[in-house]
Amino acid sequence: ETPRPADLIVFGGTGDLSMRKLLPALYHCDRDDRLAPETRIITMSRGGLDDADFRGKVDAEVRGYVPADDHATWQRFLGRLHHVSIDVGGQDTEGWSRTARLLAGHEERDRIFYLASPPMTFGPFCRELHRAGLVTPASRVVLEKPLGRDLASAQRINDEVGAIFDERQIYRIDHYLGKETVQNLLVLRFANAFLEPIWNSLWIDHVQITAAETVGTPGRRGYYDHAGALRDMVQNHLLQLLCLVAMEPPSRNDRESIRDEKVKVLQSLRPIVGGEVDRFTVRGQYTAGECDGVRVPGYLDEPDSTAPTEASRRVETFAAIRAEVKNWRWAGVPFYLRTGKRMPYRSTEIVVQFKDVPHSIFPGSAPNRLVLRLQPSEGIRLHLMAKEPGAGEVALKPVPLSLSFAETFTSRVPEAYERLLMDVLAGNPTLFMRRDEVEAAWRWIDPILHEWEAQGAAPEPYPAGSPGPAGAHELVLRSGRYWYEDDLA
Ligand code: BG6
Repeated sequence: ETPRPADLIVFGGTGDLSMRKLLPALYHCDRDDRLAPETRIITMSRGGLDDADFRGKVDAEVRGYVPADDHATWQRFLGRLHHVSIDVGGQDTEGWSRTARLLAGHEERDRIFYLASPPMTFGPFCRELHRAGLVTPASRVVLEKPLGRDLASAQRINDEVGAIFDERQIYRIDHYLGKETVQNLLVLRFANAFLEPIWNSLWIDHVQITAAETVGTPGRRGYYDHAGALRDMVQNHLLQLLCLVAMEPPSRNDRESIRDEKVKVLQSLRPIVGGEVDRFTVRGQYTAGECDGVRVPGYLDEPDSTAPTEASRRVETFAAIRAEVKNWRWAGVPFYLRTGKRMPYRSTEIVVQFKDVPHSIFPGSAPNRLVLRLQPSEGIRLHLMAKEPGAGEVALKPVPLSLSFAETFTSRVPEAYERLLMDVLAGNPTLFMRRDEVEAAWRWIDPILHEWEAQGAAPEPYPAGSPGPAGAHELVLRSGRYWYEDDLA
C-alpha cells in the first residue's frame, strides 16, 4: 500500500522522547520508504528555534541513533522537519497563527497531533487546536502515557480530549504493544493449535511477568516522585502484557476484537483492597549499590535539579503484585507482576509455569516452563525434561527448546515506535489502548495506590543491583513458589 501524505505535528518535539525515540523511528520508516514524499514532521516547542535550527539540532543529536551509511535518506529526512516556536500554554496567538499558516492548504492530508507532553496538557492542547481551527475530519491525536495519575484524572483527560476528538481519532500509546515479541505472543497463542488446550488453570500453575531495568532515575525526579513504578510501568505495560497472556481468542484480528478481549481481562482482575494490599503487593526503593559493575547512588541521592522531598522518600522504584484473573479459564492461577529500576540485569520476560506431571516415575522431575523474552534479546524458550545420556540410573535434566529471533530471522527488528507510528499513519488503532481499557486498568490500580498513600510508609529499601526487596521474595514464597532469576540473567 502506498503511504498517504501526512502532516505529523509533535508537541514536546524537542524533548527526550522525541529525540531518542520518535525521530529515530521516523527516520527508519523513511529509509524503508514508508513515508509519502510529501509527509512533513512538524515539531512544536517553546525553544525559539526555526526550521534550520531544529534541523541542526536533530543532525547533531539524532544522527548517532541511525546508521551512518546513508547520507541521501538522512538529508531527505532532515528536509521533512519543520519547527514552530510556540508557548502552547500561554495564549500564544502568534504561535498558533504560524502553525495555521504552515498547515493551510493541506486540510485533506492525514493530520496527526502527537502529544509527547505531560498528561495535564492534553485537554488544554486539544482545546487550543480546536480554537485555532486546526482539527480536520482527517485528524488524529496520539496521547503518550501516563494517561492521568488515577482513575479520576484519566476520566477527566478522556472527557476533555473526547470533547474535541471522536474515540476513533484517539490513539493512546503503550509502547510495549509495539514490541515484536508482544505481537508474537498473539501469533504464538492463536496461530498454533497445541497451546490453546493447555492454556488454562488445569495445566498452568502460575505466570510471572517481570520488567527489570538496570537504569535508575537520574534527572527524572520531577516526574518519578509523583509517578512511581506502579503508575509508570504496572498500570500500563505490565497489565497490557497480562491481558495478552490471559485474553480469550478473539474472533478476528481487527481494531475492536482484540481490545474487546483485553478489556474483559482487566474487568476480571480480582480487586486488591484494604488489608489485602499488604498481602498481595510489595513496594521497594533502591539504595546505593552496584549495578552493571558500577557504584551507583540510591534513589534519594540521584543527581537532579531538585532536592528530594517527602514524596521522594515515599515513592516506589520497585513494585510486585500477586494478581488474579477471576474467570473460568484462570481462577486460582496467580499472575505475579514485578518491575524495578536498578535491578541486576535488564530483562523483560513472561514466564508461564506449567503444573508438574500428575504422577512421576522418575526422581528429579520439574514442571515445564515457557519463557517469552521481550528484551534485551527476543526469544521463546520451552523448558522440557530430558534424560541425561548415560547407561546408569535414569537422570533427568531440564533442557531448553529455544527460539532466538535474532538467529532465526535476519531482518532488522523494528523499534516499537516505528510500528506504532506507522499504525497511526495508516489509521489502525488495534495496538492502542481504548478509553475503557485505560480506565479499567486504573480502576484496579486505584485501591492499591490509595492504600499505599493512606499508610504513608516508606517503601522497603533494596540495594541497587539486587533483585528487589525481601518482601518480593516472600510474596511468592508464601505459596511455595520463587521468581525465576535464572531465566533472566
Ligand atoms: C517507560 C517508562 O514507559 O518505559 C520508563 O516511563 C521505562 O520509566 C521505560 O524505563 C521502559 O521501556 P523499555 O522499552 O526500555 O522497556
